This record gives sequence, C-alpha cells and structure tokens, in this order.
Amino acid sequence: MAAPLKRKSERREYDTYETPVWAVEALLEVIPIDMKKKYMEPCRASGRIYNFLPIGSAWGEIRQGVDYLATEYNHTDIIISNPPYSLAQEFVEKALRDADVVIMLLRLGFLESMKRWEWWQDNPPTSLLVLSQRPSFTEDGKTDGSGYAWYVWDKKNTLNLKPFYFLRGKDGKCRQQNERDSEQVEKGHPKISGGTVRPDSKRDQPVCKERSIWNGYVTTVPRGNG
Ligand SMILES: C[S@@+](CC[C@H](N)C(=O)[O-])C[C@H]1O[C@@H](n2cnc3c(N)ncnc32)[C@H](O)[C@@H]1O
Repeated sequence: MAAPLKRKSERREYDTYETPVWAVEALLEVIPIDMKKKYMEPCRASGRIYNFLPIGSAWGEIRQGVDYLATEYNHTDIIISNPPYSLAQEFVEKALRDADVVIMLLRLGFLESMKRWEWWQDNPPTSLLVLSQRPSFTEDGKTDGSGYAWYVWDKKNTLNLKPFYFLRGKDGKCRQQNERDSEQVEKGHPKISGGTVRPDSKRDQPVCKERSIWNGYVTTVPRGNG
C-alpha cells in the first residue's frame, strides 16, 4: 500500500515500497506466526514479510513473473501483505477470496472516500492494528505523511482479536536494543515456535520483544521501558 504522496509518474515501478521490518515485527507481536497454518504473501518483493512465514509459503511478485491478480491459488489460511498502493483494493478483494484471514498494511486514509463507502459496507475489517509511529518506506527514512495500520479481515474469527490495537514500534531505545539482540537471532525467532525456522538470517531480524497490555489493547514497548 505504501507510496509516498507523489504523482503517478514519480512513483516507483509497481509501487515497490517495501515494509520496514519493525512494522512486521510489531504485527507479529500481536499475531504470531502459527506453524500449523498455511500462509501466502502475494507480492513478496525481497521478502520483508515473506521471510517470516513458514518455509514453502505461497507467494506472488510481478517482478518475478507472478501477477497475483491473474494467478489462481489454492485456498490458504492467512494472507499477509503490503500491497501496491494503486491496486490495494483489488488485492484485498482477491485475498478475501483466497484466504480465511487477510492482513494488509494500508494507509489509515484507505478507510475514507465515498468511492469505497459501499465496499466498506460489505467488507468491514474485523480489526485494525494501528502503527502509532509512521513508517518510512524509503531508504532515506522519510515518511509519506500518512498513518498506517495493519487491517485484518478474520472471516471465521480464528484469531480472536480485539477490534483495535495501537502498536509502538521502532524508537531509539528499541533500535539500540535490537542491534544488541541481532547477534543472538540465530538461536531462534521469538515470533515463531514449534516449527522449522528458515536458516536465512534475513528473516531473523531483531525485534522489540516485550509487550504490555493496557486496557485490553496490546502495545509493543521497547525493553527496559517499564
Ligand atoms: C508496496 S511493495 C510491498 C512489497 C512487500 N509486500 C513488502 O511488504 O515489503 C508492493 C510490491 O507489489 C509488487 N506488485 C505490484 N503489482 C503486483 C501484482 N499484480 N502481482 C504481484 N506483485 C505485484 C511490486 O513489485 C512490489 O514488490
């Protein structure tokens, strides 16, 4: 979904704005990977999300010759993605046909607009996990001035989530802690238990490991922050 607020001609080809790893980790603090379930990432790019999924998870990526919107997939349990901005609604619609649970990183503004009013009546998300810190999708650390959330459509209520979560993610303390943690990541990924972890260090990015529950909502907090 990510795309700095630029004219179409200035945007990267195929809206290639990859998700910062901390935003994926913040999601997985609330919704850990379940090794018993089947996952798909329909536009995986370099694997910022995909590398956290169980080995062999289904994927698409137009730059690798797989157009998700034109490809038939077996039904799967959970789709997680950050879709291209210009095709966000199409991705959500197809994902809702392809999976029981759909989790997409989208702008908060995706909730707006009269154009989607009717669509929202038929497709309300079951949960929103708001990124309280705006993510940067570019190497220079700049944001596009938009708020983002992980939108969840859990059709069978298998995840038993609350409607709202407010996720803290990357901040100075947490990043420093993460850097110290990075030497230990080969010992196992904190978000994944009871299964094989891909021996690919990219998926083992460090993370804010602790979380606090306030008023029923889970908020990721950096270690040593109370
Ligand atoms: C916003 S980036 C996000 C990449 C990745 N999902 C992530 O979270 O880091 C969107 C990605 O969608 C891919 N893409 C665009 N249109 C696509 C399509 N029709 N089918 C599959 N991938 C597509 C782009 O090449 C790009 O890698």
